[in-house]
Amino acid sequence: MSTSPRIVAVFGATGTQGMLMLFALLADGTFVPRAITRNCSSEKALKLKSLGAEVAQADLWDIDSLKQALSGVEAVYGVTDYYDPKNVAQGHNSEMLLGKNLVDAAKATDVKYFIWSSLPHCTRVSNGKYANVYHFDNKANVDDYLRESGVPHSILYTGWFSENLWKYNILAPVPDSDRLELTVARYDAQSPQYFTWVERDLGQCALALLKHYKDPESEVLSRTFYAVSAKLNYTQFASILQQALGKPVSFVSSQTTGMQEMDDMYVFQSEFGLYPDTAIPDPRLINLGVKFHTMEGFIQEIKGRYA
Ligand SMILES: NC(=O)c1ccc[n+]([C@@H]2O[C@H](COP(=O)([O-])OP(=O)(O)OC[C@H]3O[C@@H](n4cnc5c(N)ncnc54)[C@H](OP(=O)(O)O)[C@@H]3O)[C@@H](O)[C@H]2O)c1
Ligand SMILES: *[C@@H]1O[C@H](CO)[C@@H](O)[C@H](O)[C@H]1NC(C)=O
Ligand SMILES: *[C@@H]1O[C@H](CO)[C@@H](O)[C@H](O)[C@H]1NC(C)=O
Repeated sequence: MSTSPRIVAVFGATGTQGMLMLFALLADGTFVPRAITRNCSSEKALKLKSLGAEVAQADLWDIDSLKQALSGVEAVYGVTDYYDPKNVAQGHNSEMLLGKNLVDAAKATDVKYFIWSSLPHCTRVSNGKYANVYHFDNKANVDDYLRESGVPHSILYTGWFSENLWKYNILAPVPDSDRLELTVARYDAQSPQYFTWVERDLGQCALALLKHYKDPESEVLSRTFYAVSAKLNYTQFASILQQALGKPVSFVSSQTTGMQEMDDMYVFQSEFGLYPDTAIPDPRLINLGVKFHTMEGFIQEIKGRYA
């Protein structure tokens, strides 16, 4: 038996999704995570190194740097970021170009397994009604490219990150009161949202796929999975918050996030639902051993932030 380390290259590793993915790999210990970053000497990159991850430099715009960073890698966890200023400056389809570069580099370096973190194609699903949600459509376009590439893969769809509560100030105290407001733009309080507790559940899902992709009976390859912890409407979510925090919490559907693309994203989700035809939590991931967390459990754990 080979004893060479099973290296998993994690993209976006200095960001929310990639870093929490990397922590899950480190905690599990089966794989050696390799954090990919444009700057190996940033504070976050140095921290990842001190925690035991390999750190390698690459820029998704530079395919040669990707091929170098993927040397010796068994598997890739692929994430791109539309909103990075250097990416968005290259136009609306930048994220698709970055994802395609990564697929090409994985193919060239004979990567054995590729997990692509993706989202639905809003234009297609809405039949052209919401055609400006670039950070969804371009990820979905990479799904197609990956399927045609021949690289062994799975596609992992994510929900709305529970961590958005504080990262984007979605849940905030109302000044001069004991109340909190849960504010999401253009969302019907009765429409379901699909929540992903990134810290606890996303890494578990990817790990389950990584541990089973070689086993043909597990039916992991070429399939799409849903790393979604819970499906709830915001009225329900506010009531769970209120109960756990012991303070009144009301849901507010605001007029705008201040960004057209984000407004369209929310109204799309409210109207069509992210994954309307999917059982949540994904029973196939549960079969592979994933133990999804509830939003009640999430709030219990993070409620100190709102004490
Ligand atoms: N928030 C949500 O509810 C939600 C839900 C579903 C999906 N998502 C998606 O999750 C993705 C990641 O979001 P996040 O919040 O985790 O991101 P983030 O914290 O903003 O981090 C973005 C990461 O991408 C890396 N990166 C950006 N451009 C790069 C390039 N050209 N080459 C190599 N690396 C590059 C950055 O690494 P360096 O700067 O170190 O190079 C950074 O680590 C986004 O695409 C978002 O659409 C978010
Ligand atoms: C990388 O990060 C270090 C530490 O923050 C910084 O001094 C340096 O300018 C960065 N390099 C690039 C190319 O951005
Ligand atoms: C939304 O949640 C409320 C409160 O739990 C529930 O009564 C209602 O049926 C839900 N709405 C839908 C459309 O599921």
